[in-house]
Amino acid sequence: MTTACCINVLNGGSLRVRNGNSISTTTYECCKVKDVRSCPSVMSAETKRLLPPNTETVQTKPFPIRGERANYVNSPHVIAMVGLPARGKTYISKKLSRYLNWIGINTRVFNLGEYRRHATTAYQSHEFFRQDNAEAMAIRNKCAVEALEDVCQWLENGGEVAVFDATNSTLDRRRMIQEIVVEKMGYKLFFVESICVDPKIIEQNIMEVKISSPDYANMNKDTILVDFLKRIEHYQEKYEPLDEVHEKDLSFMKIYNTGEKVLVHKHEGHIQARIVYYLMNIHITPRTIYLTRHGESEQNLDGRIGGDSNLSARGKQYAAILSKFIKEQQIGGLRVWTSWLKRTIQTVSDIPAPQERWKALNEIDAGICEEMTYEEIQEKYPEDFTARDCNKFAYRYPRGESYEDLVARLEPVIMELERQENVLVVSHQAVLRCLLAYFLDKSADELPYLQVPLHTIIKLTPVAYGCRMEQIKLPVEAVDTHRPKPKVPGELEERFRKKKIAK
Ligand code: SIN
Repeated sequence: MTTACCINVLNGGSLRVRNGNSISTTTYECCKVKDVRSCPSVMSAETKRLLPPNTETVQTKPFPIRGERANYVNSPHVIAMVGLPARGKTYISKKLSRYLNWIGINTRVFNLGEYRRHATTAYQSHEFFRQDNAEAMAIRNKCAVEALEDVCQWLENGGEVAVFDATNSTLDRRRMIQEIVVEKMGYKLFFVESICVDPKIIEQNIMEVKISSPDYANMNKDTILVDFLKRIEHYQEKYEPLDEVHEKDLSFMKIYNTGEKVLVHKHEGHIQARIVYYLMNIHITPRTIYLTRHGESEQNLDGRIGGDSNLSARGKQYAAILSKFIKEQQIGGLRVWTSWLKRTIQTVSDIPAPQERWKALNEIDAGICEEMTYEEIQEKYPEDFTARDCNKFAYRYPRGESYEDLVARLEPVIMELERQENVLVVSHQAVLRCLLAYFLDKSADELPYLQVPLHTIIKLTPVAYGCRMEQIKLPVEAVDTHRPKPKVPGELEERFRKKKIAK
């Protein structure tokens, strides 16, 4: 979510300007500006004049100077997975990509299995993966090169992080990746190896995700398990784990037994440090996260945003019924997190579980619009009201926050949620939209319009590569505070006008 960017134009070459969620790449030759550190929004007129004509334009010319870009701070990154099949590489790739996109780093996963399936007719058996199957090996190598070409093309077109989800289990394969990614393209390369020796975890992984793989359509579970274990054996014959001696110059991390131990070797820069930190925090223990807004508040009844009011009578009923619901569920080791605001604390007052207050869970700060109704904002600040409708994610209330700010504020909450097991988070509409967007992989455009109704529990259960969401509406009426994106920016629906709030 950072808007800071570094423009290094000492010797000409490629310029990458970070602007909110997008990156622009421009290739040019001038060398008048020395190491400008700035953001497009605050650049001086002189800096703007020296920049290429349109930094918003994505250009696709190849990078002209071999390897030079490798020294840039904001170089595109390739994260290359390493490990035998069924070691959670795809799980890590997808989860990491979801996280990086959520924090505003444009990330995409390139899965080699998909390239192989595209290049071959229907999967027959593990024989395809035998080390002495020369024909298949040629196809597999060709697929790897094609996937890497797509990785590079995507990064040239403005992508920031490409995750190459493949076994990459030999020194030769990693050397090839290094040659293309670092030496030829000048990108940063970070390997993430997942090592798992627990047969139970491996079998569980096969049964959870491989049985639904397109490779095994219409096969029974036992046949799949036997075939997949054979496939692993073929890889095992040539498997060379990342090696601090033979690959001493590579940047990598190794994750042992789903996070029991982590080794980090020569990691470089901010993005890699964030990736390491994130991957150190995730776990695969089954658990459930419950999200709910506070019970209806007095300010909700008046259609006012923000503030720190008490629960309404119906809000108090919700608190009681929520507590009953949670007790009935008998959730082991449940922890309850609220914001610092009265309405969330009152909502959990009867829940018998350890409680923690997070200031980071407070509602979005509406600045000069705090405690106003939408109608009052439209009347008093019509330009702001319209601007917010035009780009709700990026719009920042004067002296307040934007959704983009909120995501940055919530990152420590997400990190801690990843570490925890069963948690009930009681917070606010905008905050829960941000958390939901992380768990459900929603874009910045969708995020500010996600539905988070009052008096409803959102139950999130991790499944295979994502999260299953269930909404449990408890039987206490409440006002509807959801304002959908209007067709015409700045237009206010009748129901938000004075005395129209349905009580
Ligand atoms: C696959 O073909 O399913 C994976 C290829 C690989 O990464 O080795």
